[in-house]
Amino acid sequence: MASQNTKYLVPGQGSPLAPTITANPTTIEPTEVLIRMEAIAINPADCKMIDQGHRITSWPLVPGLDGAGVVEAIGDRVKNFRLGDKVLALFTPGDRSASYQKFAVVQERAVAKIPTTWSFEDAATLGVCYMTGIVALGIGLSTPLPFLEDGPTTGFTPSSVLVLGGSSALGAATIQLLRLAVPNCKILATSSPKHHSYITNALGANGVFDRNSPSLVMDVKSATPESSGVDAIIDAVGAGGAQSHVFETLDPNGSKRYAQVWTGDDEIEVPSGVNSVLFRGRDLPNLQGGENIMRALQSLLEDGKYKLPLPVHKMGHGIDGLENGLELMRKGVSGEKLVVLI
Ligand SMILES: NC(=O)c1ccc[n+]([C@@H]2O[C@H](COP(=O)([O-])OP(=O)(O)OC[C@H]3O[C@@H](n4cnc5c(N)ncnc54)[C@H](OP(=O)(O)O)[C@@H]3O)[C@@H](O)[C@H]2O)c1
Repeated sequence: MASQNTKYLVPGQGSPLAPTITANPTTIEPTEVLIRMEAIAINPADCKMIDQGHRITSWPLVPGLDGAGVVEAIGDRVKNFRLGDKVLALFTPGDRSASYQKFAVVQERAVAKIPTTWSFEDAATLGVCYMTGIVALGIGLSTPLPFLEDGPTTGFTPSSVLVLGGSSALGAATIQLLRLAVPNCKILATSSPKHHSYITNALGANGVFDRNSPSLVMDVKSATPESSGVDAIIDAVGAGGAQSHVFETLDPNGSKRYAQVWTGDDEIEVPSGVNSVLFRGRDLPNLQGGENIMRALQSLLEDGKYKLPLPVHKMGHGIDGLENGLELMRKGVSGEKLVVLI
């Protein structure tokens, strides 16, 4: 094992990353896994933390929620991983469990093996959007999740859902997970027109509509039986805030559920009668079977049932790749995940 770690620290709010050499983590708790990072994926939350101090209580900070690499060491109660395994994981910004560094330590339950056919770059993009997609369904809509061991088996089974932001990482993950959870559900989505064929052909949505179309409400409703509207909306991008007409796509006689991701902005106000649930990735502990989601992901990947949600845009290596990736994320991405090799 290398004796040195490189952390891409943020010294204070708004600062550029400062690569800092430190000792490699030597203390690994019994249920922890030490990962040598190979690839890091950038999330909108990384920029919100670095630029706005979003949810940060102290600096310096090592950012990073997503990444993939090789198991370098394991605690003595780790059961499912061996040295040398290729893995992806859910990371926690702060210090030793964040992904913007060469060596990171995470709990075994946050780790999944990568099939041999997957690259580190692709696998690095899976974690956060998968986890939040699970929470969107399991908590946002209270939908049963048959692929999740000990997960919810009863609840709301929608016959039609509109996913706002089908070309976002979260939207793309959620469409796939909804198809697995409720195979017969009519899944409709919004995005820019350039992503429509990808969202239907690669992700399996039944219909996609231009998010800026003046006829969006009519278009969505006409894709549902008797043009009645959808049972539920999953808002993966906070679109309902500026585009309140989207609520008119809900069937007035249906259960009118609206699951909105927490984007960091104020909770979106909804028309009376709409049942809104705000969800976040960190609600996972409240989901029945939530501790098993990475085991479920590993099985879904092995069985080829869960695919890369979005194409990967490689931003280069190390500090330059990270800074360039963060800069591009600040400008806004469209239908892709940004990845940096470490
Ligand atoms: N709280 C949490 O735990 C949590 C977890 C994950 C994500 N999030 C939040 O969820 C949001 C999405 O995250 P992400 O990583 O999936 O983002 P992303 O991939 O960076 O989102 C970019 C996409 O958003 C789409 N988009 C933007 N405005 C839209 C609108 N009004 N209607 C439809 N599509 C729209 C764009 O679509 P087009 O290019 O097709 O126009 C683009 O493809 C972010 O705000 C993120 O911070 C929160």
